[in-house]
Amino acid sequence: MEEAARGGRGWRRPPAAAGGGGAAKRRGLTMTSMRAILLVGGEGTRLRPLTFKTPKQLVPVLNRPLLSHLLGHLREAGVTEIALAGAAAGDVIEEALGDGRALGVELRYVNEETPLGSGGAIASIAAGWDAPFFVINGDIITDLDIGALIAFHEAREAELTIGLSEVEDPSEFGVVALDDADRITHFVEKPPAASAPSRWINAGIWLFARPLLGAEAATSFSRVEETLFPALAAEGRSIYGFRHEGYWLDVGSVAAYRRANMDAVAGVGPCRRDLEWPLSDFLLMGATVEPGAHLEGPLLVGAGSVIEAGAVVRGPAVIGRDCVIGGGAEIRDSVLWDGVRVEAAARVDGCVLAKDAVVGSAASLTDAVIPHNSTVPAAAGPASGIRSDPGRRDP
Ligand code: GTP
Repeated sequence: MEEAARGGRGWRRPPAAAGGGGAAKRRGLTMTSMRAILLVGGEGTRLRPLTFKTPKQLVPVLNRPLLSHLLGHLREAGVTEIALAGAAAGDVIEEALGDGRALGVELRYVNEETPLGSGGAIASIAAGWDAPFFVINGDIITDLDIGALIAFHEAREAELTIGLSEVEDPSEFGVVALDDADRITHFVEKPPAASAPSRWINAGIWLFARPLLGAEAATSFSRVEETLFPALAAEGRSIYGFRHEGYWLDVGSVAAYRRANMDAVAGVGPCRRDLEWPLSDFLLMGATVEPGAHLEGPLLVGAGSVIEAGAVVRGPAVIGRDCVIGGGAEIRDSVLWDGVRVEAAARVDGCVLAKDAVVGSAASLTDAVIPHNSTVPAAAGPASGIRSDPGRRDP
């Protein structure tokens, strides 16, 4: 934390990688790389039981950590100097993503002992930074045009530009009111849909011209989206909203998590970009499909998995590495993590099965979330909506 608070000294040149520096350079902007702080220190309570053993940023989307998709998008835009503002699970994230070189970015880790919220993270990491930097929620998937947002920000000489996404129902989000020039005039947190000033919400991507918080904010919890931003708007400061009309998903809930995978495997949104997807819509990454198995895309099956004769997998579905789908079993609309076993004649529909889960033969599950290492007994069900107790840590 101390090193980060010294204003980012110690950043090395970003590693060379396909696409690095792309959008910013293409637009003729002066910067070739930019800094970002990614907020990854939440507890992920809404994603329990999945997050009891896997931090939210590492839950798999297309068999890759959720965060790797956002990092890939930032790398393509030339945002490669990235501080991950984490908390208790920071070490686990560091073990998985390392220094970021494999993803074409340079990662550093700044872990909070107690949660400091977005305000604390910004104040401690960005103190002394004198160039524009991003702050981004580490649980989103988006194809927002980062280079266009930078150009928008610079053209308006904004102090702060907030990426916005339009949603049907803004009642669970921070909503903005904008004037004709896209300056944000005020914020409303989680308004009833009928009284919302717009359907444009804070998409969790913020470009700061400079840190707007003093050092005192580095030691206490605050959420800038609920405190600083409304205060700046009330003062008439130059805060602008950049309207993004493409893909944006906040992977906060189990429903959103399953959707992230279903969209990604179907090619909706940016996630398939890094995988070489065949025209057939099946990507079988070294998996074994026995003769007599029936597959319907879109489908991803990880290396070492076996789809036995007589099994049926109907896409959209994502199956991890080293899974076994037994004869006569049927999978659809589901996400299976690595090491899952679905035994003969079991049915799995609309489910998320975490690492090493087992569904016993002839069991039937709909819309269920099965935690790591758990076993659904043979012939169980039909059962729907199973979750383990969200307050309990399974052994
Ligand atoms: P829930 O507990 O289900 O609400 O999830 P969450 O803890 O991830 O909270 P939320 O979805 O509101 O967080 C948005 C992003 O900010 C996520 O990427 C979190 O990891 C991150 N985040 C939330 N709180 C903190 C915090 O206190 N410090 C830091 N550094 N990051 C945070």
